Amino acid sequence: MSLDIKTLVEKYNTPLYVYDFDNITRRYEELKGAFDGKKSLVAYAVKSNSNLAVIRHLAKQGAGADCVSIGEIKRALKAGVERYKIIFSGVGKRDDEIRYALKEQILFINLESEAEMKRVEMIAKEFDMEARISIRVNPNVDPKTHPYISTGLHENKFGVSIDSAKRMYIYAKKSKNLNPIGIHFHIGSQLTELAPIAEACGIVADLVRSLNAIDIDIKFFDVGGGLGVVYDSEVTIKTEAYALAVTQAIKGLDLTIVNEPGRYMMANSGIFLTKVLYEKQNGEKRFVVVDGAMNDLLRPSLYSAYHKIEAVQRDGEKSLADVVGPVCESGDFLGKDVELPIMNHNDILVVHSAGAYGFTMSSNYNTRNRSAEVALMGGEDYLIRQRENFQDQIRLEEACDTSWQS
Ligand code: LLP
Repeated sequence: MSLDIKTLVEKYNTPLYVYDFDNITRRYEELKGAFDGKKSLVAYAVKSNSNLAVIRHLAKQGAGADCVSIGEIKRALKAGVERYKIIFSGVGKRDDEIRYALKEQILFINLESEAEMKRVEMIAKEFDMEARISIRVNPNVDPKTHPYISTGLHENKFGVSIDSAKRMYIYAKKSKNLNPIGIHFHIGSQLTELAPIAEACGIVADLVRSLNAIDIDIKFFDVGGGLGVVYDSEVTIKTEAYALAVTQAIKGLDLTIVNEPGRYMMANSGIFLTKVLYEKQNGEKRFVVVDGAMNDLLRPSLYSAYHKIEAVQRDGEKSLADVVGPVCESGDFLGKDVELPIMNHNDILVVHSAGAYGFTMSSNYNTRNRSAEVALMGGEDYLIRQRENFQDQIRLEEACDTSWQS
C-alpha cells in the first residue's frame, strides 16, 4: 500500500481503517479472470466489508453480492449492484426479509432447511409468484480451518444433507411457487487447502447429475467463498488451481459458476491504524497501550487471529510486547508478543490484513465511537465513513420518551 501513513493520520486521526481500492480491483480481476471463458459470477460477500463505497466499487467492476440480511440486500441495491446478481444466504431468514428479497426480484435465495423452503413457498404464493431458489448442501467435508469458521460438517448448523437436499429439490420442482435453479455449498472460511474444496465440488456436482437425471435443471453452481489469504506465512490456494478444480468437477454440466469471496477480496486490501497512548511494564511483561481496541478489530480477541503489527517510522532495539486497547477486558488485545521498538506517545502502529471482518464486526462496547474509514484510489484518499461521535451513539436512546423517569 503506497501511502503516507502519517499524513493520513494527521488528516483523519485514529483509530482508522484504510482500504486500497486499486488492490480490490486487482483481486476482483484475478478471481474473475481465473474463470475466464466460463459462465461465472463473482458475488462479493458483503459481510466481510459492507461499506457502500466498497460495494459500489465492486459493482462497477461487474460484481454481484452475496447478502445475509435485508440490510445487506439494501446496501447492495443502494450501491448499484444489479438485482439479478444478488443472492440471499443465511441460516435464519425472517418473513419480512424473504418478502423483501422476493419483491426485489433478486437472483435467488439460498435455502438452508426444509422448514425455510416451506416458508419461502408460502410467501411466494401470497405474491402469486415463483421464487427462484438454491439449496445449500452440507457435504460433510472437513475444511481444516478454525472451528468457528468451519461450516461444511454435519455438526455445523449450516445447510442440509445430500439426502434431504434431494427431497427438497423434488418437492420444489413440483411446487408452483418454487423454481429450483441453483445449488450451493460453503464449507468454511480462510481455507488454505484445495483438497476439501475439490471434494465438496465433486460431491455436489454428482448431486447435480442425479438431479438432471430426474429432469431438475440446475443452472447455478454456487461454490461459496472461503479462499484463504496471507496473514502471516500461510501458503494460499492459487486461483487458477481453484478454478480448475471447480471446472473439472462440473465437467459436462452446463452451469454458471458463482463465487462468494469476502476475505479474498478485502483482507489484504485494508489496514487498521492506531496510535500509541502509553508503554507500561507489569513485572516482566511489556504492554503497548493503543487507542484501537477489540471493539474496533475483534478478530484477535475472538479467534486469537494473527494480524501483523508494525511501527511507523520508529527504529531502535526491539523487544516483545502485547499490543492492547483501552477496553476493560483482559481479552482486549490486537497482538501478543509483537516485536516492537520503544514506542512514544502518538507513535503509529499499522495493523495489517484488516480489510475483511474488521470494521463490520466492530461495536460500541465501552461507548467507544466506531472508527472512520478511508479509501485510497489512484494516489488519492477519500473519506468513506465519518468517525462516529457521542451524539450518534445516543441518538436512539434520546429519541425515547424519558418522562416516566422524572
Ligand atoms: N458465503 C457464505 C455462505 C459465507 O457464510 C461466507 C462467510 C462467505 C461466503 C464469505 O467467506 P470468505 O470468502 O470471506 O471466507 N468473521 C470471520 C469469518 C466469518 C465467515 C462467515 N461466512 C473472520 O473474521 O474470520
